[in-house]
Amino acid sequence: MKRFVFCCAVVLLCADIHADDHHILDTSKEGMEAISKALGVKCQYCHPSVIEAGERDYKAPSPLKKTALYMKHHFVDGLVTTTGKSIDCAFCHTGTARFVVRDTSAAKPSRLAGMSRGEIVAMMKEMQKALGVKACDYCHVRRRDGRLDPVTPTPNKVVARMMMEKFTDRLLDIKTGKPATCQTCHDGKAKFLEREVKAGE
Ligand code: HEC
Ligand code: HEC
Ligand code: HEC
Ligand code: HEC
Repeated sequence: MKRFVFCCAVVLLCADIHADDHHILDTSKEGMEAISKALGVKCQYCHPSVIEAGERDYKAPSPLKKTALYMKHHFVDGLVTTTGKSIDCAFCHTGTARFVVRDTSAAKPSRLAGMSRGEIVAMMKEMQKALGVKACDYCHVRRRDGRLDPVTPTPNKVVARMMMEKFTDRLLDIKTGKPATCQTCHDGKAKFLEREVKAGE
């Protein structure tokens, strides 16, 4: 009896490894339903190709499939929470594919109040470098006399603040064991995702 159970376990294990060896995401029905739910989308969002009436081509490549794999590789497998817990798609997406808010009416009061001017500027220069943007103006407006007005909210400033709260405050880079920085994800580029072009963009 013992031997029988053992053999079954080995067979199951091998079957499992075999089925999974060329996939990065869990492509079972449950796995795909879970990521659809995390993003609040239907299957066709990532699998737009149809072979013939009603039959979807799940193997066909698409930009959003590529982005989904990128997210799995760099974010889900590359980051953990500050308490060392692993994260999934739902950790960041919480039911929406696009959750980054650019609305300046959502701006919050500054949390840099306790920092010296020098410390703030050093931090800003680091963010600027991580995103590969040329000037402070990417996130800040200027007064009429040409001087920087760092207080007035702008869409990119709102996004940057949100990324601090949602990402750099809450996540560690598995490779270094240190808090994730803007550089961890951006690596010198403001935009780096493959996207499906939507009307109006
Ligand atoms: C956010 C994007 C996304 C959504 C939504 C999504 N998928 Fe996928 N799906 C992928 C990616 C990426 C792969 C390839 C995964 C891999 O190779 O590791 C994949 C692979 C698959 C495969 C395997 C195809 C093959 O190469 O053998 C099937 C079947 C599948 N998906 C079904 C579904 C179904 C059914 C739904 C809806 C419940 C769904 N997917 C929703 C991204 C998505
Ligand atoms: C650490 C946070 C984080 C995790 C974890 C994460 N994502 Fe994302 N994802 C983002 C951000 C930020 C965006 C940009 C959202 C926006 O523009 O509003 C994004 C965008 C996307 C997009 C493109 C949306 C569009 O319409 O252009 C897809 C597809 C996606 N993620 C899939 C996934 C999948 C699948 C997983 C899990 C395997 C995942 N993401 C895990 C942060 C994350
Ligand atoms: C990627 C976006 C981004 C770039 C680029 C950027 N900043 Fe900022 N800056 C912010 C954000 C976000 C805050 C507010 C942080 C907060 O709300 O706690 C801020 C706040 C400041 C503040 C403090 C004002 C306040 O309200 O607390 C100063 C001063 C400042 N930035 C200067 C600069 C300078 C100088 C540069 C160029 C070297 C620069 N910033 C580049 C996003 C940026
Ligand atoms: C967990 C990964 C992650 C971290 C950490 C992160 N970001 Fe992002 N950020 C993204 C993703 C994903 C996008 C969407 C990129 C795209 O559209 O190609 C994005 C977009 C942005 C954008 C909008 C770019 C545009 O032009 O649309 C700004 C501004 C930004 N991030 C600032 C920051 C700042 C500042 C930091 C550090 C405090 C930071 N981010 C940290 C993942 C991250």
